[in-house]
Formats: sequence, structure tokens, C-alpha cells
Amino acid sequence: MRALVTGGAGFIGSHLCEALLERGDAVWVLDDLSTGRFENIEHLDGLTCVIDSTLNQEIVRDLVRDVDVVYHLAATVGVRLVVDQPTKTIVNNIRGTETVLEETCRYRRRLLITSSSEVYGKGVQEVFHEDSDRIMGSTSLTRWGYAASKAVDEFLALAYWHEKRHPVVIVRLFNTVGPRQTGRYGMVVPRFVRQALRNEPVTVYGDGRQTRCFAYVGDVVPALIALMDRRDINGQVFNIGSSQPVTMQELAARVIQRTGSRSPLVHVPYEQAYGPGYEDMRHRAPCLERIKNAIGYEPAASLDEILDTVIADMKNRLAI
Ligand SMILES: NC(=O)c1ccc[n+]([C@@H]2O[C@H](COP(=O)([O-])OP(=O)(O)OC[C@H]3O[C@@H](n4cnc5c(N)ncnc54)[C@H](O)[C@@H]3O)[C@@H](O)[C@H]2O)c1
Repeated sequence: MRALVTGGAGFIGSHLCEALLERGDAVWVLDDLSTGRFENIEHLDGLTCVIDSTLNQEIVRDLVRDVDVVYHLAATVGVRLVVDQPTKTIVNNIRGTETVLEETCRYRRRLLITSSSEVYGKGVQEVFHEDSDRIMGSTSLTRWGYAASKAVDEFLALAYWHEKRHPVVIVRLFNTVGPRQTGRYGMVVPRFVRQALRNEPVTVYGDGRQTRCFAYVGDVVPALIALMDRRDINGQVFNIGSSQPVTMQELAARVIQRTGSRSPLVHVPYEQAYGPGYEDMRHRAPCLERIKNAIGYEPAASLDEILDTVIADMKNRLAI
């Protein structure tokens, strides 16, 4: 199989490329290196990397024409970027996906799009099913621009399926973590690990009693490939993630313990971290029934195992 991975030099994309190459696929990457890093993929033999943007329609067309399937991961990601660069976030995510949809439809290439649990917004239930209602905050809060852009991506992809029978599948990723993820743009696990390894205060936003579920990238990537390989699930949306919640306070304490750090745990108000009016949801966990039924998905890695891989990777990167 010949696969194109947009955003392939990013965190999840680089693990996906690795897995595809391992099973013998030929892999092309399209990445503008806005948040991704060439170092994430330079160890991979047999991969062709094009440094350009999904906003460049001609490049996308040329690459799509020569492959069998496209994994579309390229997006502006991370709360920090979304809050600081709302225009770029919205334009990049919507226009980039539109371009990829247009070109994959032109050549009838199967497409998998990575959406986000953010599309559920601030709904009050704890477990979200793919067909759950979505509750979005005000458009005056930049934080919701990312969620809205991912939701538009989904609407557009489903419209292509309904109107043109374009073979597309959508995955809603919940928090995914593992080696190579950077904390620079607000991702909580690498941020905590970095702070702990440097014996700096580990900063928990808000009261720390909000929960999240963290899935290991090594469990998520095989699921992306399995969904791509299934030809009878076009036009469907799948949650992928872990369903084991942990509070941010407990997460910080575990990171401090597993790194053997002397860091204190400190609470920082959301407004101080992200400016006034920042909204966060208290709990968010995926219902995994649909993906279990489709491909037998069962996340295997425990939180401690995940943290240990992130700690080892970060120690390497910080050369500790
Ligand atoms: N990591 C998570 O927990 C998580 C959760 C929900 C959804 N997702 C989705 O998964 C995908 C991958 O996320 P990630 O965590 O690996 O983030 P990442 O930032 O590491 O990867 C995104 C990659 O896309 C590239 N990129 C951005 N805009 C581009 C453009 N216009 N053209 C070409 N390349 C571009 C970046 O340089 C980067 O390499 C994204 O679509 C993201 O929305 C991730």
C-alpha cells in the first residue's frame, strides 16, 4: 500500500509513519514543520518527506495522485497556539482539510481524518458517544475556534461522503500521549514531565479536580491503520482514546513520584495561563463501544506505563 500522511512529522504522525513502514507500506509525508520536527522522522528509512503545506493545492494534488490512501493529521493543535493564533488555527484546519478532501475525492483515494474530542465542547455528561450533542462556548472565546474548525472538517467530510460517496472515515482522538509529544503548545503530560525533570514547580491549572483519559500513542496508531483497512465503514465517526479518567492533581503527583522529582505542585488559575474567560470542561471520556465493535479496539497501556515512556523520552531530549 502507498500511504500519504499529512502532519507526518508531528507527534502522532511520526508514530503512524513508523508503523506503516514496519508493515511494508510505502510512505510519503507532507508537513510544514509548524509544530512537527524533522527529527521525529529522520530515523525512518524509505520515507519520502515533502516540506510544504496542505494549503498548497498543487502539491496536495501531486502527492494524492500517486498514493492509495491518505491519513490526514495536519492541523494547528495545542491550546497555546489556538489561543495565541486563532486566525491561523481556523484557516489552517478548515482550508487544509477542504483541500485534502477535494484532491482525495478527485482521485477517489480513501481518506482518514483525525478530528478531536474537542468537538464535544463543554457538554456536561462524563462519557461521550459519537452521536452525543455538542455544546460550544461563545465565539468571542478563541479557545472554541479549534473545536469549531474540527467540527467543520467533520461536517465537510461527511458531506463529501453523502453527496459524492467519497470514501472517508473520521476519528475523534481523545488525549493521546507518548514519546515525541511536545509540551510547548499546552499538552499537559509532557509539560508536567518537563517541569518535574527540571525540579521546577509542576503547574496544575484550576483546582486540579478536572479529569481526562490518556491513551498511549502505541495503542492509538494501530487503531488508525485498522480503520483505514476496513472498507465497509465509510462515512462513520469513531472515538479513540482511553476510558480511564485521572484528575490533573493525581496526574501531577504521579509524574512527580515517577520522576523522583523535588518539584512542588502548584495551582495556577486558568486566567493566568490562558487569559480571561478561558473555559475548560470538568470531565471528558470516550464511549468506545463503536470502535470496539468495528476493530476490537482495546487500549492496553496503563497510565504508569505511558508516563514511563514519556519520562524516558524527555530525559533523552533534555539529556538528563
Ligand atoms: N495529540 C492529541 O491528544 C490529539 C487529540 C485530538 C486530536 N488530535 C489530532 O491529531 C492530529 C495530530 O496531532 P498531534 O498531536 O500529532 O500534533 P502535532 O502538532 O505534533 O502534529 C500536527 C502536524 O501537522 C503539521 N502541520 C500543521 N499544519 C500543517 C499544514 N497546513 N500542512 C502540513 N503540515 C501541517 C505540523 O507541523 C505537525 O507536524 C491533529 O489533527 C490533531 O488535531 C490530537
